[in-house]
Amino acid sequence: MPSDNRGAVRVPIRRDAFIRDRLPRLEAAGVPEALLNLQYLLARRLGIPRLELLSRHGEGLSEADGAATDADLARLAAGEPLQYILGDTPFHGLILKTDRRALIPRPETEWLVDQVLACPAIWSGPEPRLIDVGTGTGCIALALAAARPEARLLALDVDVDALALARENRDQLGLSGRVDLRTGDLLAGLPAGGVDAVVSNPPYIATAVCGTLDRHVRDHEPRLALDGGADGLAVIRRLAPQARACLKPDRPLWLEIGFDQGVAVAAILRDAGYERVEVLRDAAGHDRAVCGWRGAAPG
Ligand SMILES: C[S@@+](CC[C@H](N)C(=O)[O-])C[C@H]1O[C@@H](n2cnc3c(N)ncnc32)[C@H](O)[C@@H]1O
Repeated sequence: MPSDNRGAVRVPIRRDAFIRDRLPRLEAAGVPEALLNLQYLLARRLGIPRLELLSRHGEGLSEADGAATDADLARLAAGEPLQYILGDTPFHGLILKTDRRALIPRPETEWLVDQVLACPAIWSGPEPRLIDVGTGTGCIALALAAARPEARLLALDVDVDALALARENRDQLGLSGRVDLRTGDLLAGLPAGGVDAVVSNPPYIATAVCGTLDRHVRDHEPRLALDGGADGLAVIRRLAPQARACLKPDRPLWLEIGFDQGVAVAAILRDAGYERVEVLRDAAGHDRAVCGWRGAAPG
């Protein structure tokens, strides 16, 4: 049992008492879902699932674990997202390393991956080739590669730090044989015509809106991952024609978009020559993705 420097025996603090003591400070700091986040961080520190923490809440907490959790809680109180402090996040059945080098993968993007997986034309050949533009953690490319063992992916990002994180994720998932990584500005310099699908969750937030985002996003996630220029569509405008040139005939471009960008992005794709352009909405009725096809005719 630990003792202090006067030799008195000290009883370790109970886990539930630790939580009760720290919670008000987190709430006062404006941490959303403070109790849940605190439980996640303490459970991770103890190496047990959160539910096990709840069932064993009367047990003691070592001084070292208490101090380390306090350091994590200080980051949480400063607005850092939970996923960056934990250092990983679940995405489409994978666990991805997550830190401030790249955007935290979102559930909307898992939904985009599901749409792409459910698009039969992409998967009709023996070795489908896909490109993920602006890969960040690598989430889209890695989820597609994990779900379709016959696929080969190229994942691109202009941000070398994000690409280094994508590489760590790819290697820890054992996908280095089928997922190539490349630094680059969108699809510049890639050969024309060989790709079965281009998929992207590009930066699509208008520059002026970036400054008004929730502080967890605004102050901690990479600006390059968010800022889509004056109207949010600058990257999509450049990407659309480049992607069309890379696609085989009768193959799609899939884009994640902002909740009110469907009409504008569909117009950009039609102007770039795409056919069968479709805006997809999520369960809440918000625009979430746009799909457009390179026509069957060459050119
Ligand atoms: C919204 S984040 C998406 C990250 C990841 N695909 C996801 O869904 O979580 C956009 C990504 O595009 C990258 N990016 C921004 N401009 C780019 C460009 N011109 N060329 C390539 N990647 C770019 C950013 O670095 C960032 O990783």
